[in-house]
Amino acid sequence: MSSQFWKPGTEKPRLLEDEEGGVVFFSPSLASSSSGYGHASIEKQRQRLPVYKYRTSILYLVETHATTIIVGETGSGKTTQIPQYLKEAGWADGGRVIACTQPRRLAVQAVASRVAEEMGVKVGEEVGYTIRFEDVTNKVRYLSFEALEFYLIYLCIVIMVDEAHERSISTDILLGLLKKIQRRRPELRLIISSATIEGKSMSAFFQARKSRHQMEGEELPRMEPAILSVEGRGFNVQIHYVEEPVSDYVQAVVSTVMLIHDQEPPGDILVFLTGQDDIDTAVQLLTEEARTNRKNSSGLIILPLYSGLPRAEQELVFSPTPRGKRKVVISTNIAETSLTLEGVVYVVDSGFSKQRFYNPVSDIESLVVAPISKASARQRAGRAGRVRPGKCYRLYTEEYFVNEMSAEGIPEMQRSNLVSCVIQLKALGIDNILGFDWPASPPPEAMIRALEVLYSLGVLDDDAKLTSPTGFQVAEIPLDPMISKMILSSSELGCAEEILTIAAMLSIQSIWVSSRGAQKELDEAKLRFAAAEGDHVTFLNVYKGFLQSGKSSRWCHKNFINYQSMKKVIEIREQLRRIAQRIGIVLKSCESDTQVVRKAVTAGFFANACRLEASSQSGLYKTVRGSQEVYIHPSSVLFRVNPKWVVYHSLVSTDRQYMRNVISIDPSWLLEAAPHFYQQQRLNPIVH
Ligand code: CDP
Ligand code: MG
Repeated sequence: MSSQFWKPGTEKPRLLEDEEGGVVFFSPSLASSSSGYGHASIEKQRQRLPVYKYRTSILYLVETHATTIIVGETGSGKTTQIPQYLKEAGWADGGRVIACTQPRRLAVQAVASRVAEEMGVKVGEEVGYTIRFEDVTNKVRYLSFEALEFYLIYLCIVIMVDEAHERSISTDILLGLLKKIQRRRPELRLIISSATIEGKSMSAFFQARKSRHQMEGEELPRMEPAILSVEGRGFNVQIHYVEEPVSDYVQAVVSTVMLIHDQEPPGDILVFLTGQDDIDTAVQLLTEEARTNRKNSSGLIILPLYSGLPRAEQELVFSPTPRGKRKVVISTNIAETSLTLEGVVYVVDSGFSKQRFYNPVSDIESLVVAPISKASARQRAGRAGRVRPGKCYRLYTEEYFVNEMSAEGIPEMQRSNLVSCVIQLKALGIDNILGFDWPASPPPEAMIRALEVLYSLGVLDDDAKLTSPTGFQVAEIPLDPMISKMILSSSELGCAEEILTIAAMLSIQSIWVSSRGAQKELDEAKLRFAAAEGDHVTFLNVYKGFLQSGKSSRWCHKNFINYQSMKKVIEIREQLRRIAQRIGIVLKSCESDTQVVRKAVTAGFFANACRLEASSQSGLYKTVRGSQEVYIHPSSVLFRVNPKWVVYHSLVSTDRQYMRNVISIDPSWLLEAAPHFYQQQRLNPIVH
């Protein structure tokens, strides 16, 4: 069962690696606010930020308007300053909370620590944060993302929806929800902050209710939104294009960075790539290149930046560059607007990012590397002009930029599988989902598909209401409902301990070290853990080995396993275990009975069942649901083994549709797991 050519994954599975965001809280102060004491230099820094000039206007607008839209360039101080201004003005007094939502986890933590530092407090005191699986507020209490929103809305007096231009699903849901809630709670203030001038469409969205709910001249706050534009202070950025399209953008990144390093004056470099895999590759190649480059070999500090990066590495990215050195930060689009890096003078833009695409007809959602929009390209270039005039190197042609790049991205809502979104709304008590007022309506087919899946999982009943207890339990687990269902079933099947391990493993992009060059060794290492049943059981072997080694980093190194990922797995598993306990899952182990484990996986993922085509020598499978052609990904332990029936965890599209994380099943389990679902199939009978 060896895989001859293991390719590092080209996609991020859903769940944690989604960069799901969180909330920064500003809670009532117990002691008096300590900002200002012994913070003279921080105070000065704060006053130098562009938003500072608008402090009074912002406070006035928030006081007098239900919704204030603030547009301002990245780095102008929107995220870190505005909530502090509100707090200083007394909005958090009397037990009320100011919240600022972020679409990315990493940004949540970075912002909370920065603000705590500015306020002279510890994170968790007057400023805290909540992200999925982690709650650092002064009320020490776990809150799932869903519960969090629910809980927040009732405690909050001001909610700042940050990075609204990104139009992530969570942002859009929140905007729809808040608009609804504001009708009932006019005292609730919204701030929508955005880095691009898309403010108008947001304004139109919030404007739409005015005539129905408020007449001119009524008392404050005014319901029509206020728009404030914060003038930036960006420097000029010179744009360079490539003359010919590049074929390998990772390679092009490496040579461009080396060129800048050799020829340009000091200043840090920020590179935009797409995800952990190409970033790790670029870091590796650049490190080698820098080592062999005689001229200035010791001058480069090469650092990756992506969601899920260990804390210590994050801190390196944000710490000032030592004199005589040049920092190269290789990032996902997280550094596009969510985070500000000081000292960047050069930007290298690959022109790509990872984006989610969903086809409701085939019901296939994939994260693919796709071209960015002009709006993104401008944002990326803008990062080079923070401290002085800078340069941006675009790894695409000018002709391409002008004629082919789309002006704006499509809201995530319109290109995603909506299963999690629907369950989130249901849990919030929104029954009429089809009539929900979205900033951008999702395609009805996608909505119907999501309702179908949730119905077949037993999460929704005939009236499309959450079932009790399954629906409510699934909604409590902050993971994809298919994973949640798998966890619930493991309780009955007596294998919850194993399934929690699997769920944690599936939350991580990859537990293997991606290694260009050491392919053979990696394959051999994988073979040591490979299980005939498939990848999920292989995960259990890896986990067992890791525990037996005493969680040793040397053991990981020897086995081509990513130590950081394994530490994260342990952490997530522990958190999942706590949730499982809370919702009454029986935490038993099935020891080595892998059949019940596979049954539990099937109970969650029956919709992803595939059958090997009888005549196929090439490993062609068809999905039972939609007769889509799919293949087992070369990274799977079942690659070339090709069992007759499998379920997969996720699909990746490259030249073909590949199934990642695959497990072999018995087809009779499908009927057991989802009689309704498989009765509807008018395909060949399932069991022969
Ligand atoms: O939200 P916006 O992009 O408008 O700006 P911000 O995130 O509030 O950042 C304002 C300033 O705070 C930046 O220019 C940085 O100098 C600083 N900052 C920082 O040093 N470290 C952070 N983690 C965040 C911000
Ligand atoms: Mg910001």
